[in-house]
Amino acid sequence: MRNLLVLSIMACFCLSCSAQDITLPPAQKTGGKPLLDALNERQSTREFSDKDLDNQTLSDLLWAAYGFNREDKRTAPSANNKQPFSVYAVLKSGVYLYDAKANTLVLKAQGDFRTATGSQDFVAVAPLNLVYVADLTKNSAEAAAVDVGFISQNVYLYCASADLATVVRGWFNKDDLKKALKLGENEAPILTQTVGHKK
Ligand SMILES: Cc1cc2nc3c(=O)[nH]c(=O)nc-3n(C[C@H](O)[C@H](O)[C@H](O)COP(=O)(O)O)c2cc1C
Repeated sequence: MRNLLVLSIMACFCLSCSAQDITLPPAQKTGGKPLLDALNERQSTREFSDKDLDNQTLSDLLWAAYGFNREDKRTAPSANNKQPFSVYAVLKSGVYLYDAKANTLVLKAQGDFRTATGSQDFVAVAPLNLVYVADLTKNSAEAAAVDVGFISQNVYLYCASADLATVVRGWFNKDDLKKALKLGENEAPILTQTVGHKK
């Protein structure tokens, strides 16, 4: 009886831990606007509604950004296929690491850290700020700077296709961001990108 009680408490504890990660629905990998329409509509927008993005949109957006479209290769090319990037999603509820294989947002820190991703006013209004973090032990900063252009353009094109607003941002405080994301010495935030519904 006592063992059963201990087991139930442990099960509850584990459930409450994993409940904080966000398991995303499978990404929709077909459809959307024709590519030429998306290119024609791609643009930076700095006005956002504060309405949350639903989990299907998060899944589709993150897959478009940096998901796998082959066994071990992704929607974005990578110099020497080093794939040095991790994509973090900073939501109202916390900082999450996108695990593309598990299609899960893994909670790294609970709480609203959106303002740590930049000081432009819309950053605190928009529901999502993406942070592209390079592991500089995998490739040089120069190579990472090229890779990240593809990832952010994927997000621009997805947003144009899904009628969402986005802007890529290089203006942020690296130290604030490293602290909020609990990054290691060799992990460098290279770019951020705000995403949300249009205002
Ligand atoms: C590397 C890079 C960094 C940028 N940083 C910022 C930024 O910190 N804040 C911002 O509002 N826009 C930023 N932008 C967006 C540019 O201002 C924008 O792309 C440019 O004005 C052209 O507008 P468009 O994207 O609508 O074509 C950045 C763009 C790039 C490529």
